[in-house]
Amino acid sequence: KETKLWGGRFEENVTDAVEKFTESISFDKALYKHDIMGSRAHASMLAHQGLISDGDKDSILQGLGEIERQIESGEFVWRTDREDVHMNIEAALTDLIGEPAKKLHTARSRNDQVSTDFRLWCRDAIDTIIACIKHLQVAMLKLAIKNEGLIVPGYTHLQRAQPILLQHLLLAYIEQFERDLGRLQDCRVRLNFCPLGACALAGTGLPIDRFMTSDALGFTAPLRNSIDAVSDRDFVLELLSANSITAIHLSRLGEEWVLWASEEFGFITPSDSVSTGSSIMPQKKNPDPMELVRGKSARVVGDLVSLLVLCKGLPHAYNRDLQEDKEPVFDSVKTIVGMLEVSAEFAQNITFNPERIQKTLPAGHLDATTLADYLVKKGVPFRTSHDIAGRSVAMCVSRNCRLEDLSLDDLQTISPSIEMDVYGFLGVENAIKKFSSYGSTGSERVAAQLDYWITKLGIN
Ligand code: ARG
Repeated sequence: KETKLWGGRFEENVTDAVEKFTESISFDKALYKHDIMGSRAHASMLAHQGLISDGDKDSILQGLGEIERQIESGEFVWRTDREDVHMNIEAALTDLIGEPAKKLHTARSRNDQVSTDFRLWCRDAIDTIIACIKHLQVAMLKLAIKNEGLIVPGYTHLQRAQPILLQHLLLAYIEQFERDLGRLQDCRVRLNFCPLGACALAGTGLPIDRFMTSDALGFTAPLRNSIDAVSDRDFVLELLSANSITAIHLSRLGEEWVLWASEEFGFITPSDSVSTGSSIMPQKKNPDPMELVRGKSARVVGDLVSLLVLCKGLPHAYNRDLQEDKEPVFDSVKTIVGMLEVSAEFAQNITFNPERIQKTLPAGHLDATTLADYLVKKGVPFRTSHDIAGRSVAMCVSRNCRLEDLSLDDLQTISPSIEMDVYGFLGVENAIKKFSSYGSTGSERVAAQLDYWITKLGIN
């Protein structure tokens, strides 16, 4: 067996069980690109500071290039006995170029190295997720544009509430995704500080230049405190919190679309390309992708909870527990990217059924609030208006009819303030035209929102 990189003070090798239990190479090899990036910056800084020769730096850089090539072509052999990605690459570099490789870990610990790699990885992940969110926003916006003028029932408590434009609802999702994106951007700003050079926890007496490596890796600045630099994982907690909130937004979208695709609603028809069948019931066509969007949100939340609990009891500075931070993050990022991609694909592959939706609109007295507002305009205090409209609805319920079916005589028995012009306010088509407040479902307000997003998302 090969001696460990840290083997100097040891007389015995670790047992197989311990080796298997403590390794992280099986998952942290995903960090290889960022590990090599960090090593390149570190080696260049060491040479610039005269801590290694230019010749050593050149062979380190050449060796790292060769290792990167081997990893990408699949030739590289990842070894469990070399524990993690950092030691696999360093040991392979030593195999490849010999003595100069042994200088690479000067003024560096795996503790600052792993935090650096992970920040770089998360930074790229954030950029990927942001691109996916924008793609989904565009898909939702195009769906809105396609369905101009379509009125749908708006719900509260999943009970029919007031008429809304479908565009208004779709734009609500776009707003939520915009805040999701903003949270990721905020997180990116805060995580973009460089731990490299913090070493194990206390920094070093060697004349390194932390600003140089920070710049080379595109960080804003080195982290100010070396203990903080190796100890905290708040940047992943933030990323996973942001992902969790996005996942919950997507889950609600999934719930809505699953419901709308049901026979009972029948508001949307997903195309075959985004539906799946049943192994026993030949007629079934299920909206599985959106069910899974709803379902996978559980994993994303679970990943966040795992990390919160992981960090809870840790004393400063680095603790090996932190090795457990990788898999939840990889899982969260992979899952949220899939959820966003599939939601966009679903949005591109559903059609709304205007006839079906129209048929349902007369039910549920969606115009009752408009009747109350009508009375307010006639000078009736709102509480009284509410009561009059409520009693009008009660009359409809007993007669099984719509508000607009009540005669003026009937309505005037409830309130003499109701006049002939009330019929210009009743019925869903009339009622929706009455909305006018900023941000409301009034057609001009919705058109303004739509224009805002068309410009912002740059679509034509
Ligand atoms: N594989 C470790 C991790 O992911 C790297 C740091 C290990 N440091 C140590 N002193 N054992 O956290």
